[in-house]
Amino acid sequence: MASKEFILKLKESIDIVDLVSETVQLRRSGKYFTGLSPFTKEKSPSFFVNQESQSFYCYSSNQGGDILTFVELTKGLNFGEALQHLATRAGIPLEESHKSPEQIAHDRREEEEKKLLWKLNRFAARFYQEQLEGPVGGLAREYIAKRGIERESVLGFALGYAPDSWTALRDYFIRIQAPLLTAHDLGLFRTKGGEKPKADGSNLFDTFRNRLIFPIRDPNGEVLGFGGRWLGSSSAEAPKYLNSPESKAYEKEKVLYNLDQARKSIREVESVVLVEGYMDCLAMVQAGFSNVVANCGTALTRTQAQLLRKLAPRVICLYDADEAGQVATERAMNLFLENEGLPLLGALLPDGKDPDDYLRAHGEAGKNNLAEILQNSPALLDLWMEKVMKACPKTLQARAETVEKIAAKLAKLRDEIWIQARLPVVAKGLEVETNLVLGAVRKFRKGGSLRIEENPPAKSGPSSASARSIKPAATFQKGKQIQAQNGKRDLSFERRFLSDLLRHTNWIAILRERQASNQELVLSFVEDPAIRFALNKILEPLRQEEREEDRIRELQSAVHDQPAMRNLLAEVSMKWDDSMPAKDLESALARLKDEALKNRAGDLQKKIDEAERSGDADKSESLLLELMDLRRQRIQK
Ligand code: UTP
Ligand code: MN
Repeated sequence: MASKEFILKLKESIDIVDLVSETVQLRRSGKYFTGLSPFTKEKSPSFFVNQESQSFYCYSSNQGGDILTFVELTKGLNFGEALQHLATRAGIPLEESHKSPEQIAHDRREEEEKKLLWKLNRFAARFYQEQLEGPVGGLAREYIAKRGIERESVLGFALGYAPDSWTALRDYFIRIQAPLLTAHDLGLFRTKGGEKPKADGSNLFDTFRNRLIFPIRDPNGEVLGFGGRWLGSSSAEAPKYLNSPESKAYEKEKVLYNLDQARKSIREVESVVLVEGYMDCLAMVQAGFSNVVANCGTALTRTQAQLLRKLAPRVICLYDADEAGQVATERAMNLFLENEGLPLLGALLPDGKDPDDYLRAHGEAGKNNLAEILQNSPALLDLWMEKVMKACPKTLQARAETVEKIAAKLAKLRDEIWIQARLPVVAKGLEVETNLVLGAVRKFRKGGSLRIEENPPAKSGPSSASARSIKPAATFQKGKQIQAQNGKRDLSFERRFLSDLLRHTNWIAILRERQASNQELVLSFVEDPAIRFALNKILEPLRQEEREEDRIRELQSAVHDQPAMRNLLAEVSMKWDDSMPAKDLESALARLKDEALKNRAGDLQKKIDEAERSGDADKSESLLLELMDLRRQRIQK
């Protein structure tokens, strides 16, 4: 991972206007540069670049960020690759600055070694491809035709054929003088009874024989290893699929099959589909679903889950609908939940088929159905909850145990809204109070932190609890998540305040100083968690030698892998609303406070109405006093 300093250095040496100009024709307009969005096919410019804050924002696609984001989005790269790309462009060696010379030398050697291994694999891949086209490939070509694999897929996936021979590849490697022992380490050759391989190749034989070959490539197109499907008649003779072993060239836990071809589309459609097999992957791509990857031959790993999570916000698991597939699906669900706090989406195909079978059996209609299935795929967690609740006996004890079982899973969810949305469902399904479920979740929640509030006890029976389990926020400070979900409150003034600060960076220092003596100055008037986060970061004391613009860039980096925050920050760095910018810090602050107090007063009024409706005179009176106090504050200010 690149250090903060490194990223700052990179941002200092590359100007966003230069970078963007290579892809987008920019025109200066006042403080900004504008152009046609590279993300949409628009006719009038809605793409803005702010040179001062070194950020961009596209109003038609609502995406924005810094130079790294721009490279990621336009080139379909991940963060690490974007860093590499920009570092190369700037002529700064990536992160070598803080490595020891020994470490650098060691890394280089490993890299060289891997390159040699990949090169050997590339030779093998080419050999297999040629065999498929040549005289011995007839059987394999027939098989390809029979399975409906199109020419384009054969080429796109670089399919090949390992001939039905013990030494075809070995003889070829001897002919081209490839290092046989290294190829043996890669798993391309084997020896009888595992005896020690000889450098002249005399005791080596080909691993892949009479198999359709699927080269496994990394995102750069390097061939890491192979999967081979047996083409012989009897499956008892040999395993259906044979895979290259783990090696320096092929670290299986990190690899997703077809990521090289799928990456661009994954970013575009913001979702990635995970399937079990090579053929499923190929069939789906051929049917037009290009955002598909597979975890071939191994159970899904933590690293793969992490990789998937970073690729797209929606990860959809589409494993085989058989018994084994269902077990693997539940495992994947738990892996995502445990490690990423994410609800993995998923779908089971009708009639126990795998995606390839399904597509072949149902033709055009199948494609449409599958698209719909993917579009509407629920969280696997919800399917699991449904199953568990259905299986739960109606006894009190069983229901309590099931609450716990479900709560243990819910507590793992990263986002509280995801938990909250499910509370009433569980409550209703098990006929218990929502608060009971919430309490159980709280118990399992790491660190005990959970901002969701409890409901007042329900007046009539358990079902009414679920009906209004998401309680409107009672006070200004609490229940931010809930408000975010209701989305009715107008918090645009908070954005405007952040925007004002970013365009008048000289205000930041003043505010920072004042905040040191009065913590309530700003943050107590800000409700939106994203804005709070940004303001908090900006107003932290500067470190020695740190400049204001460094701080803003650091903030950009800090939100880099949170698209919502990143876009917000980029957006407020642009022309937010030219009619509204505050002229001075005092009026910006005043507007912030005034709007916040107005919102608070609105909340109070609602609560008063509620109290009056339910005939709670004491409560309505004390609320009224609070409201008057608030009004006084607004006038004083
Ligand atoms: P499946 O048995 O579901 O095969 O294995 P498939 O993909 O439907 O293959 P076809 O359609 O019969 O050709 C799913 C995946 O599990 C791995 C492979 O990666 C395969 O694609 N596998 C399966 C193995 O590694 N070895 C095996 O013996 C079988
Ligand atoms: Mn299949």
